[in-house]
Amino acid sequence: MQLIFKLGKNPLLSIAEIYSLMESKNIKFEVIIANKQILFIKLQSVVYIDILIKILGGVVEIFQVESIVDKEDARRIKTSEKINIDNTQFAYGTNIVKQNIKDFERKELDKPYVEAKNGMLPSKLAKIMLNLAITQDTQTIYDPFCGTGTILIEALIQGYRVIGSDISKDAVLGTKKNLKWASEEYSIQNKSEVFVNNASSLAEQLRNKDENISIVTEPFLGKSWSKPVQKNVRNAKIIASVDKLIQSSIRSLSKILKNNQRLVIIIPSFKTKHDIIYLKAREMEFGNLKKISIIPSDFLFENKLVNKLDKFDYYREKAVVRREIFIFEKF
Ligand SMILES: C[S@@+](CC[C@H](N)C(=O)[O-])C[C@H]1O[C@@H](n2cnc3c(N)ncnc32)[C@H](O)[C@@H]1O
Repeated sequence: MQLIFKLGKNPLLSIAEIYSLMESKNIKFEVIIANKQILFIKLQSVVYIDILIKILGGVVEIFQVESIVDKEDARRIKTSEKINIDNTQFAYGTNIVKQNIKDFERKELDKPYVEAKNGMLPSKLAKIMLNLAITQDTQTIYDPFCGTGTILIEALIQGYRVIGSDISKDAVLGTKKNLKWASEEYSIQNKSEVFVNNASSLAEQLRNKDENISIVTEPFLGKSWSKPVQKNVRNAKIIASVDKLIQSSIRSLSKILKNNQRLVIIIPSFKTKHDIIYLKAREMEFGNLKKISIIPSDFLFENKLVNKLDKFDYYREKAVVRREIFIFEKF
């Protein structure tokens, strides 16, 4: 079976998501062509692309390839039944599935509890991060800064047991409401647990848990930043406290992870008028956690996509808060 994945706005992130998903489901594949628009792969087994497209967040379309034709022959094929591979070759196929944008909008707009002041994590990104965190043994997803539960909703829909915590009682109550809403909307019966906790200390509820927990989270950003950050003492203090909170949270969260389980975390950077403020947490090593890129390095090299990959960007150039996604694995 040959498939072409049409990649979203962040092609490397989309490719990493596909690699991670395939690995977690133990689906073997080989890459035929990769570029910034598509990932063209060959699989030994048959997969259901209508299910794959529902799981993936960073893939716009999946195209099942029947044959490859040159540019000349492609002219005779309907636009809806072909996809451009590299301007000289086209793929022909009739089984094509597209991402359901309305479903993302529904989850963002229809859930009962929203909290705009913390910045809204797009459901699409929550889904991508979740897929980057899941391994073959993952049973439970934990978000220690759960806010409105965007990440947990995605995990619940994918069939995982979910645990959330937040320092704010309102966020805990709100996440409970949102998870109840998602369970009803998507007819799910998985278990969930949400409680108040400061992410920098290990929650009692999580001590000595037997299950394999993966952690997916977007930490506290200090405040809602709408304009480029002014360099002054107050902002420097806020950013230093975010840095400290993220560092201490990563240290305490690493205790929850069993070997080979992952922590996928956004570490923010902040745009000022002339430069970018980066957190120290971004460069730090955390004991028995190692940063991984998921995409094999020979793949990156052969396809000349990037030289070094230790994080994934998810922001627009003008954004004040720049989200960088780091994947840690416990060893
Ligand atoms: C950026 S928001 C997360 C938003 C979330 N991804 C969502 O989908 O709504 C950060 C959250 O961290 C919480 N928070 C702030 N400091 C915390 C701490 N020390 N421990 C745990 N949660 C904290 C805030 O209450 C807020 O809900």
